[in-house]
Amino acid sequence: MKIGIDRITFATTDRYLDLRELAAARGVDPNKYLIGIGQSEQAVIPPTQDAVTLAAQAAAKLPAADLARVTTLIVATESGVDNSKASAIYVKQLLGLSDFVRTIELKEACYSATAGLQFARGQVALNPSEKVLVIASDIARYGLGTGGEVTQGGGAVAMLVSANPRVLEIGNHSVALSKDLMDFWRPLGHSEALVDGKYSTQVYIDFFQQCWQQFRLQTGASLADFSALLFHLPFTKMGKKALASELGERDDADAQRLWAALAASQVYGRRVGNLYTGSLYLGLLSYLNHGAAAAGDQLGLFSYGSGAEGEFFTGRLVAGFADYVDHPDAALDQRQAVSVAEYERLFNAQLGMDSADVAFDLDADPAPFVLAGRKDQKRQYQRNNH
Ligand code: COA
Repeated sequence: MKIGIDRITFATTDRYLDLRELAAARGVDPNKYLIGIGQSEQAVIPPTQDAVTLAAQAAAKLPAADLARVTTLIVATESGVDNSKASAIYVKQLLGLSDFVRTIELKEACYSATAGLQFARGQVALNPSEKVLVIASDIARYGLGTGGEVTQGGGAVAMLVSANPRVLEIGNHSVALSKDLMDFWRPLGHSEALVDGKYSTQVYIDFFQQCWQQFRLQTGASLADFSALLFHLPFTKMGKKALASELGERDDADAQRLWAALAASQVYGRRVGNLYTGSLYLGLLSYLNHGAAAAGDQLGLFSYGSGAEGEFFTGRLVAGFADYVDHPDAALDQRQAVSVAEYERLFNAQLGMDSADVAFDLDADPAPFVLAGRKDQKRQYQRNNH
């Protein structure tokens, strides 16, 4: 049975920061951000948005008939809003899904959406009528003035997983690898991540190589079998480093095809920034819309989450896939640019870890789902009345 991604959609906020302005404010050469890190813009997250509202935003772009058939909802996030309650429960409510839906949250840094996809495949294999909605939703926060600030961002990717998928059939063979490492983590009580950035990039490349070489050994695959290698992109330069670790200075047809595919996969991430769990899948969407993707092509995907876990797996594009993928270019173009001062104000206005009651001004956020505040230590979500 063929199982995989039947539809894929993406949502982020309605505002962004131009990283040339951030570079000026931080006294950094803008080319460090634009070329050295490979980021041009970054999604700015108002306090009325979080992993729950962004997840609902992405999923609400799916046709209502598809949402009505969802049997299991998996929200993959490392920006969880509660230590006990799954964000998927809030998302289910905002979307108006049937109460007879299994809802769960998964966590393992930027990797867990891939686990979600694999678990969804298992669910569908056991019962082919199952429709599993996997949403990767995160807000990447490192802190104002930190080294990781330029690799922040936020948004969500929603993927419907079913039998006979119309976008990407996921291959049965994959290689997963996990080790207990401290390259990036967020201790309880912290709303910003702690990271050993240079170490983290080394571990990422090491995990990619180990997973990919093991996959080659087990399957006999070679680079010639893939029209694209897609990577988790916490910042676009990371994909370049990973692909270079395999291609080196090669300039043959395989290398040229894979470099062109990587560039296509980086278009959206360069403008939105880090989606944590969703970054690999935003790269997939970017490649499908901007690359030389064709039906029957095989894609290699490398998922990485700090802490650390990696997985190399494959997918084959289905004829007609373009009709079932989101096209977010116009929405990205329509976002409003904000100043560094406004970005900093919004960054500091987020709900945070204390327990006081808060009521946010909802007039400033036109998104269909918003976090209205906190009352009696309960987060208040609602459909926006605009
Ligand atoms: N023009 C062009 N490139 C420039 C430049 C300029 N003026 N100035 C610096 N650069 C390049 C550097 O050569 C370097 O390139 P390289 O990585 O290919 O060697 C790159 O820009 C970054 O510069 P660096 O001095 O290493 O930056 P940094 O010390 O601020 O650290 C990160 C960068 C990415 C490590 C840091 O932003 C971070 O920790 N981010 C979070 C890491 C993360 O996402 N981890 C999770 C991985 S899954």
